[in-house]
Amino acid sequence: MNKEKIEQIQKDAEEALKKAQTSQQLYDTKVLFLGKNGSLSTLMKDMKNLSAEDRPKFGQWVNETKSALESLYETLEKKIKTKELGEQLDNERLDMTLPGPFKPLGAQHLVDKVMDEMIAIFARLGFSVRVGPMIEKDYYNFEALNIPKDHPARDEQDTFYIDSEHVLRTQTSPIQIHTMKIEKPPLKIIGPGAVFRCDYDISHLPMFHQIEGLYVDKKVSMAELKGTMAYFNREFFGADVKTRFRPSFFPFTEPSAEVDASCALCSGKGCRMCKFSGWIEMGGCGLVHPNVLKAAGLSPEEWQGFAFGMGVERMATVKYGIEDIRLFIENDVRFLGQF
Ligand code: DAH
Repeated sequence: MNKEKIEQIQKDAEEALKKAQTSQQLYDTKVLFLGKNGSLSTLMKDMKNLSAEDRPKFGQWVNETKSALESLYETLEKKIKTKELGEQLDNERLDMTLPGPFKPLGAQHLVDKVMDEMIAIFARLGFSVRVGPMIEKDYYNFEALNIPKDHPARDEQDTFYIDSEHVLRTQTSPIQIHTMKIEKPPLKIIGPGAVFRCDYDISHLPMFHQIEGLYVDKKVSMAELKGTMAYFNREFFGADVKTRFRPSFFPFTEPSAEVDASCALCSGKGCRMCKFSGWIEMGGCGLVHPNVLKAAGLSPEEWQGFAFGMGVERMATVKYGIEDIRLFIENDVRFLGQF
């Protein structure tokens, strides 16, 4: 029986335990020496070869070594666990001074905003909103609006045809027909919505927005139309803005006019926005053509009406001084976020 063997194991074990860096390493080392198949247990198996008087002594040595190593293990374990906990807390610490993740706020699109503003102005005059389909029958988009088959507006270069009978509406005017066919006059409606034309440059988009207006009653005059347009211009641009009508032609109105507002930017003196004319083109209007009333099932002897149509993108460009209409659809938030 030699004590040195035990002492050697104890020395090796102490060294190995002290070298352990993590609690897992420490535990594995402990198992290596004190475990069921560890060095000390293996040594115990030699006990049967010892004499009866040596056995208790040997057992005592092994037990003393065991408990010395156990207590060393516990001391080291406490130290390592404390260190590990500290590291874990350091890693998980929340730095309350760090800025949070940036979540940009959305904004209403300028076209939508101007559309709302235009609708609100007409609502104050008693107009209520009606809508119509974007895919229209040729009949509603053209025929019922007194636009004959050979009219240049039907040019296939302008109109997106879906098939021989259906188009993407090129104007909001068909809303007039739908409304007159369904509802009984007197009518006072506006029809906002997207329209489509095969066109794309600095001042044209293939999809843009219009607001249609329609007023039908027993007696409707050009003066009322002009009063309505003048009210809109003052509300939209400012109290000092003047309104003028220029004679024009639209198949669905007779007489027809183009509406101008005096340029709010230069007070009519002439600037880049009004192309040095002092006037801004607002849209078209006129008294509803008898053929249109007839197509919608109303008698022109009984009913009269005025109608108007304006482009929403155009209104937005003149009000906010935007020179390239394509900015509206490029979705650059640096542009869109400004309004
Ligand atoms: N629909 C016409 C266009 O897109 C605009 C228009 C002009 C509408 C005169 C009207 C109107 O209701 O009376 O160019």
